[in-house]
Amino acid sequence: MAKPGTFSCSACGASFSKWSGRCDACGEWNTISEDAPLSSGPASKSLGTKRGRPITLTDLSANEAPPPRTGSGMAELDRVLGGGLVPASAILVGGDPGIGKSTLLLQAAARFARAGLKTFYVSGEEASTQIRMRAQRLGLADAPVKLAAATSLRDILTTLEAESPDLVIIDSIQTVWADNVDSVPGSVSQVRAAAHELTTFAKRKGASVIMVGHVTKDGQIAGPRVVEHMVDTVLYFEGERGHQFRILRSVKNRFGPADEIGVFEMTGGGLAEVANPSELFLSGRGDPAPGSVVFAGIEGTRPVLVEMQALVAPSPHSQARRAVVGWDGARLAMVLAVLEARCGIPFAGLDVYLNVAGGIKISEPAADLAVAAALLSAREDSSLPSETVIFGEISLSGALRPVGQTENRLKEARKLGFTSAILPSGGKSGGNGGVSLTRMSDLTAFVGEVFGA
Ligand code: TYD
Ligand code: MG
Repeated sequence: MAKPGTFSCSACGASFSKWSGRCDACGEWNTISEDAPLSSGPASKSLGTKRGRPITLTDLSANEAPPPRTGSGMAELDRVLGGGLVPASAILVGGDPGIGKSTLLLQAAARFARAGLKTFYVSGEEASTQIRMRAQRLGLADAPVKLAAATSLRDILTTLEAESPDLVIIDSIQTVWADNVDSVPGSVSQVRAAAHELTTFAKRKGASVIMVGHVTKDGQIAGPRVVEHMVDTVLYFEGERGHQFRILRSVKNRFGPADEIGVFEMTGGGLAEVANPSELFLSGRGDPAPGSVVFAGIEGTRPVLVEMQALVAPSPHSQARRAVVGWDGARLAMVLAVLEARCGIPFAGLDVYLNVAGGIKISEPAADLAVAAALLSAREDSSLPSETVIFGEISLSGALRPVGQTENRLKEARKLGFTSAILPSGGKSGGNGGVSLTRMSDLTAFVGEVFGA
């Protein structure tokens, strides 16, 4: 917790010993404010009288069963949580305003309540009647969820203490206000204090607490990133505006794999689960077109096929443009540099646009080869066979490096009707999933084979 006389930035959460107009860590102006002092405790120099009792690890494992998890019945949500909700855990769900966090959590609350958890939905943003109206629209009006519209941390904790719920949803952590902390709601100190108290409550009472957090324009959970360190699980709810798909992604999970995704579709009646995302992401694909390549990716534990689209055109500007949606700009620059340096294919004077169709963000280096293929296909104006998937990592030397879970990628490709795959040579040779394989050891060979250059 903050020491008296320290200052923090409300944008990035960095701490400073003195005030300044501009945050040295993130460069934002007017975001630094003094942390509210905490009530003075015992002098830090003297030792306390309470002594903790250490337990040996072996004693613990003998009588501690793994925590019982409660599933919501929404497979997409349960998988991201690592197999369901764990008691005595704190979860942060971050996302842009309007992306659908409240909708998702109200639906989840109803499911968990029907699964037998005593569920409490605390909103600081909407009145109870508004939440009830939303529940009605979602067809959840009869779910045994208790609603409260409150913002005072003291009131919330008093209520929770009396009710002893199994699941508490706080929508949102930025609206919660602690009266013992002397700063405005939504500030770093307030969010930190509220998250700390609620996490402590979760651990002490064995409840699960889900906190909603809005993210700022640069993608951080608004206010302190320290909240991410306090909680057990951090999920992000993301999606592109104008797209119906929403992706729930675990970026940290003490009780399950990180990087797992759940895919939803926003409909008139709330969020619907998407059991087969590959089908959805490829659904808009027409005839084979130059610049379009299907990448067989892995998101968390699940294979996902997506279409990579590239456009390469002579640049009217003195400095050619590089624009990326859904992938890493630095990684694109690297692939372009390798194509230029190792294969002698220049992109100077050409504008390059890369888009991952469907509004999903890909972070795997395994997409390198698919990106290179899309760029070449766009540059040469020749389309690749539409029934081929491509994956593999490109190293700076131009060599192709094998990637993990080859078999799962191929199986998914087979399932969606793809008959061939281009991938790096080497790596574990598992089954080919019924897909004919073309293995390549370097990018130059790939360019020669696929584009005849
Ligand atoms: P909301 O859950 O309020 O977003 P957040 O809590 O993240 O700010 O939902 C935002 C949008 O979702 C809202 O603009 C309307 C849309 N929506 C639907 O399309 N269908 C629905 O059934 C609901 C409840 C909302
Ligand atoms: Mg909301």
